[in-house]
Amino acid sequence: MTLSVRGIGRSFGGFRALEDVSFEMPSTDLLGIIGPNGAGKSTLFSVVSGFIAADTGSVVLDGRPLDRLGAAARARAGMVRTFQVPREFHHLTVRENLMAAAPDQTGEGLFGLFLRPGRVRAEEAAIGAEADAAIEFLRLGAVAATPAGRLSGGQKKLLELGRALMAKPRLILLDEPFAGVNPVLVEQLIERITALNTRGIGFLVIEHDLDALSRLVPRLVVMDRGRVLATGTPATVLADPAVREAYLGGAVA
Ligand SMILES: Nc1ncnc2c1ncn2[C@@H]1O[C@H](COP(=O)(O)OP(=O)(O)OP(=O)(O)O)[C@@H](O)[C@H]1O
Ligand SMILES: [Mg+2]
Repeated sequence: MTLSVRGIGRSFGGFRALEDVSFEMPSTDLLGIIGPNGAGKSTLFSVVSGFIAADTGSVVLDGRPLDRLGAAARARAGMVRTFQVPREFHHLTVRENLMAAAPDQTGEGLFGLFLRPGRVRAEEAAIGAEADAAIEFLRLGAVAATPAGRLSGGQKKLLELGRALMAKPRLILLDEPFAGVNPVLVEQLIERITALNTRGIGFLVIEHDLDALSRLVPRLVVMDRGRVLATGTPATVLADPAVREAYLGGAVA
């Protein structure tokens, strides 16, 4: 049960956004990814989750190379990501957004809708039940019928996590889950992510809030200019002079 990222490289035009990025984690663990703006963190998530292709290297989940699979196939293999800017449907309610995030719906194709209406109805009921479970788990009950566009920043992040959960993943990649989230909801997110982790779901978490992240994850990968600069416990990594120089500008006590 391992996620293995091996020698990933990716260029945009002549610009090397990722160069020889490698790390490994038990796929049931929590791993933090930090680094200055533009370090390549979100690009790494896009490569690992299959939204963009790598130029070099390989992503291997539980011994299976995923390189030829797109994002939908990787989601079916158990790995999903969230986006730095939440991608909810503004006009749909929270519950509808969750239902829309469920993969592989028979009714999505015209043929399914006309040929198997009974099955479509049963599937919709099952997906509705899953959406309700996610709403309860994430404590979004008060806004379940609210259009997602009207949610607070923190509630949108909770919905984003809920949308990821609808794919029943084993491993979730969270891109800045605490950005723009008030402190009370940050604590709620940490608590919910920890609860999911104790149920066996692994997490990769990109975050600039080092204090909150250090309370959530036991291990950090530090990126700088497309490369891995350091790996280790938050205490070790944040005390590393190279990390302080590159990432913190030596400014953090
Ligand atoms: N599709 C793209 N085309 C061209 N350049 C890109 C593309 N995506 C990312 N980049 C560039 O790659 C570099 C890494 O970007 P990335 O978004 O991965 O950084 P990041 O570490 O997530 O930063 P932040 O902390 O600000 O979110 C940046 O210089 C960015 O401009
Ligand atoms: Mg980013």
